[in-house]
Amino acid sequence: MVLYHSYMKITYISHMGFMVDFNGTKLLFDPFIKGNPKPGPIKSEDLSPDWILASHGHGDHIADVEPIAKRTGAKVISNYEVTNWFGAKGVDGHPLNHGGKADFDFGTVKYVNAIHTSGLPDGSYGGNPGGFVIWKDDSCFYFAGDTALTRDMELIPMTCPKLDFAILPIGDNFTMGYDDAVIASDMIQCDIIIGCHYDTFPYIEIDTEKAKKAFAAKGKTLLLPALGETIDL
Ligand code: NI
Ligand code: MN
Repeated sequence: MVLYHSYMKITYISHMGFMVDFNGTKLLFDPFIKGNPKPGPIKSEDLSPDWILASHGHGDHIADVEPIAKRTGAKVISNYEVTNWFGAKGVDGHPLNHGGKADFDFGTVKYVNAIHTSGLPDGSYGGNPGGFVIWKDDSCFYFAGDTALTRDMELIPMTCPKLDFAILPIGDNFTMGYDDAVIASDMIQCDIIIGCHYDTFPYIEIDTEKAKKAFAAKGKTLLLPALGETIDL
């Protein structure tokens, strides 16, 4: 008798903020509602995560981490420097560094390379930026964080289970654009991509129809959920 059925529900908050219901555990990624010019319908107070995962120290990825963590007791998973920075504010966390993985009650989290920067809002050193690969049994996804296209992405299918989907930045200017994200999807061997980090600011406005066509031309699917929309995968 099979009692355990794996599932993932992904809610797009805004920018690179997502809430992933991972087999019943709520994982909040890169919340940026405060100060966001396009915050969407979901308020910080609406979010009750079990864990908060922060890819790097930039304000557009951690703006709401402290208030949500303090209200809910959720712990922060990030790199060593970012978790220490939150630790000094009274927010508990689990530090990772690149290439390292750890087992949690909900599954395994691996912190993988990103090509970007990671300074914290007050000028503190935020270590180096990263992304996360998260899996339990056959369920596995990649949250890239802010990154350029990098050959390091080829290591993901070599070292992690097969990806069900990946969350990639597509807005260009500060991260890879959708054209490079198509190549990234080949490197990580994944055909279902959720795009983010676009259209929040003028610098990262893109033609979303062209972006979808670029993925479709390679037989891949680019999902662009509306702000506040939930998709089941
Ligand atoms: Ni950034
Ligand atoms: Mn960013």
